[in-house]
Amino acid sequence: MAAAARARVQVAIIGAGPAGMFLAHLLHEARIDAIVLELRSREHVVSRVRAGVLEQTTVALMHRLGLGARVAREGLVHGGTTLAVNDAPFHVDFDELVRGAAITVYGQSEVMKDLNQAADERHLEVIYEAADVQPHGLDTDAPWITWVSRQGPQRVDCEFIVGCDGFHGVSRGCIPPGESRVFERTYPFGWLGVLAEVPPCNHELVYANHEHGFALASMRSATRSRYYLQCSLQDRVEDWSDEAFWDEFAVRIGGSFARRITRGASFEKSIAPLRSFVSAPMRWGRLFLAGDAAHIVPPTGAKGLNLAAADVMVLADALRRYYATGSAAGIDGYSDRALARVWKAERFSWWLTHLTHRFPQMDGFDRQMQLAELEYLRSSRAARSSFAENYVGLPLEL
Ligand code: APR
Ligand code: PHB
Repeated sequence: MAAAARARVQVAIIGAGPAGMFLAHLLHEARIDAIVLELRSREHVVSRVRAGVLEQTTVALMHRLGLGARVAREGLVHGGTTLAVNDAPFHVDFDELVRGAAITVYGQSEVMKDLNQAADERHLEVIYEAADVQPHGLDTDAPWITWVSRQGPQRVDCEFIVGCDGFHGVSRGCIPPGESRVFERTYPFGWLGVLAEVPPCNHELVYANHEHGFALASMRSATRSRYYLQCSLQDRVEDWSDEAFWDEFAVRIGGSFARRITRGASFEKSIAPLRSFVSAPMRWGRLFLAGDAAHIVPPTGAKGLNLAAADVMVLADALRRYYATGSAAGIDGYSDRALARVWKAERFSWWLTHLTHRFPQMDGFDRQMQLAELEYLRSSRAARSSFAENYVGLPLEL
């Protein structure tokens, strides 16, 4: 990790979250010279608690990049999941519905540790605590980035800039108004998430639709549970004691799962709003957007990290072709190709949110539609196959 950057690189990446770090490794693999500029400290980036379900393409990417040893050892491979409504759970068997399909439970913070450790070993240049990062010259062939480090003002010249700086980053706002379009849904509730050092109440994930609202039983390991409750956007973390959380969680998750809950002190508790958001196109001039900088999904289905990984696989392939052959076809096609998959994941996350949550304005008809759709899933192999292929992740066509 260098303190001061080189004067010139081929690609400058803004943001060292999953999108930025996967891209840095992919460009290193393609022998493309890159630098990563990150606003926060490395500890901050690694310790953020986020979702923990990896699609097969994401696990395959980790293996391809030589980052797969720990996920192979410690990741929990799940061949199915359970949907529960009115205390009547049913199982969706991925493997039976989509041959060989599974997801891997492995926390985003573990993915970040693996990315960062290998980045050190490979001497990837990642500058942390880079303040006031600003892209310039995006509509020219010679863009550059300025920022401020502890040593003072810095500059790097480059050929392309990739905004991997998340929803609140600086990159998306550099696209002039009128050159991109935003598509958005907000949801009238949030998710209260809890981490506790207790064994999970089921060996796989359980998504519960209860009349009080949604609940999700997930995990990080055989001894660490990650549980969620749909909550009001007005709720504050202080409103939810551990006891209140466990009581409500048991009611919503229901029946045999409730009986298998082990209660314990939570060591992380947070509330997150839910949002669907796409800014298109994902390119303007010499700027590309990837991951949360371009799109947000509600957490239902855990697609955020996987979409970020898929974006940068498409982009790295396009840049590799550009530098190997001089053809701009890949980079010109990046936005359309990435968005084709993004929209399908947006649809799935939006649909699963509607299927499993209580909306404030819901009337009897809306509720019956939810129940009918859940019953259709329970009784139809075709419906379950559609759920399964989306849940485990649609194929990535490069
Ligand atoms: N300058 C430099 N870095 C910035 C700036 C900025 N102005 N603004 C934000 N960043 C950094 C953030 O500190 C963060 O480390 O960009 C990174 C963006 O990371 P994420 O928000 O994790 O986004 P992304 O890499 O696209 O990952 C998407 O991972 O974090 C989850 O919820 C997210 O599941 C989604 C997936
Ligand atoms: C998680 O473990 O954090 C998780 C799992 C599945 C989801 C969302 C979050 O759908």
